Amino acid sequence: MAEMVRKSSVDEVLNHWILAGSCILLMITGFAFLFQMKSVGSVFGGFNIMKEVHNWGGVVFSLSLLYSMRHYLKDAFEYDADDAQWFKVAGGYLSHKVKVPPMGKYNPGQKLYYLGIVGAGIAIAVSGFAIWLMKDNASVMLISHLVHNVAFCVFVIAVPVHIYLSTLANPGTFQIMVTGMLPLSEAKKKYPKWMKAAGKM
Ligand code: HEM
Repeated sequence: MAEMVRKSSVDEVLNHWILAGSCILLMITGFAFLFQMKSVGSVFGGFNIMKEVHNWGGVVFSLSLLYSMRHYLKDAFEYDADDAQWFKVAGGYLSHKVKVPPMGKYNPGQKLYYLGIVGAGIAIAVSGFAIWLMKDNASVMLISHLVHNVAFCVFVIAVPVHIYLSTLANPGTFQIMVTGMLPLSEAKKKYPKWMKAAGKM
């Protein structure tokens, strides 16, 4: 059997499922509120119950987002010359002729994706709690709805791209989400600088 290497710890895998599950639940229920989709509301037993699910789902998402910082925040702020070169060749996604530089544990696209999720996540969470808890303040309501909807647009674009890149576009990546592991040979090919730092190369 192929030798395996751990990329994500067990708590990281679990927290990613909580983050992804709560995020998708919030996106579906949020969409249903925005477009008054009664059919989706009825799945939850009406809009009132769906609102409770959305609010408490927001609590779970916010805690999970905070916890994710322990896993990704440090990496997300560290960039080197290879990362700059990665941008120049667009990660190799637009042409097979370019030479993609060697990568560490995360490529700069993933690091920026994380920072985008943190930024939009904080904006959507703070504005969501304001909408939930400060109903009597008209100006807070107005600004919060604006921020909530703009941040929602970021999620609607970024999350499907992330899901596509983690599944169909990069076969073999999805198993990291399930087990946290990948074959050592694959890790050496995709993340040589991380493997070197870990003493495996
Ligand atoms: C449900 C479908 C999803 C799939 C298949 C998926 C897959 C993955 C995989 C495989 C990784 C690890 C990548 C690696 O280590 O190389 C990852 C990381 C990550 N995922 Fe997801 N994910 C999904 C949903 C989400 C959602 C909804 C969010 C929104 C908050 C999210 C946020 C993240 C973050 C922040 C990371 C770490 C940074 C990165 O690798 O870009 N994921 N995901």
